[in-house]
Amino acid sequence: MQRRDVVDTKRAFRDDRVQKLVMADEKPIVGRTKHGELTLDQIAELQPGLGTLMRDVSDRYWIAYYAAKGGNWDLAAYQLRGVRSLFKKGNLTRPKYKGMVENYTKKILDPLDQHVAAKNFAEFEQTYRAGIELANKLHAATDHSEIVWKLPPNPPQHLDLGPTA
Ligand code: HEM
Repeated sequence: MQRRDVVDTKRAFRDDRVQKLVMADEKPIVGRTKHGELTLDQIAELQPGLGTLMRDVSDRYWIAYYAAKGGNWDLAAYQLRGVRSLFKKGNLTRPKYKGMVENYTKKILDPLDQHVAAKNFAEFEQTYRAGIELANKLHAATDHSEIVWKLPPNPPQHLDLGPTA
C-alpha cells in the first residue's frame, strides 16, 4: 500500500468515527438564539442562493458603470470587487454554477478591472456591454431566459459619482 493510500484510509476511519459519535449522540449540532434553535442543516439551507445574491450583483454592476462614466474609478473598482465577492458566495451555496462564474470572471471581470486601473472608459464600456450580453446568455443557459438584465438608464442618486480628490 502506498503512503498516500495509508493516509487516506486513516482519514476515512477517523471521519467514520466522528460520524458515528455524532450519530450515537443523536442530537444534531444546533446554534441557539434568543428565538430558538437551528440545526447546521437549517443554517446551511438559509444561506443565500443566486436569486438573492444576483440582486446585489445587479446593483453593483449598475453602479460600477455610472461610477466609471463619472470618473469615480475607485468606486467602480470597489463595486466590481463586490461582484467578485458575491460570486464567491454563490460558488459556495450553488457550486453547480462555478464553471460559468469562473468563465465570466475571466472574460469580463478581469478585463474590467484592467480598464478601471487604466481609467479607460471606452474600453470599459465595450467590455461592460459584453458582460451584459454574456450574463443574459448565462441566464438562458441556466433555464432563466425570462431574466434579461438591462442597464438602468438612470445613475444611482445616493453616491457621488464624480472624480474623487
Ligand atoms: C456568471 C454569471 C451569471 C450567472 C451564472 C447567473 C445566473 C443566474 C441564475 C441561475 C439566476 C436565477 C437564480 C434563482 O432565482 O434561482 C439569476 C438571476 C438573476 N441574475 Fe444572474 N447570472 C450571472 C450574472 C449576472 C449579472 C452580471 C447580472 C447583472 C448585472 C445578473 C442579474 C440577475 C438578476 C437581476 C436576477 C434575478 C434576481 C431576482 O430573483 O430578483 N446576473 N442569475
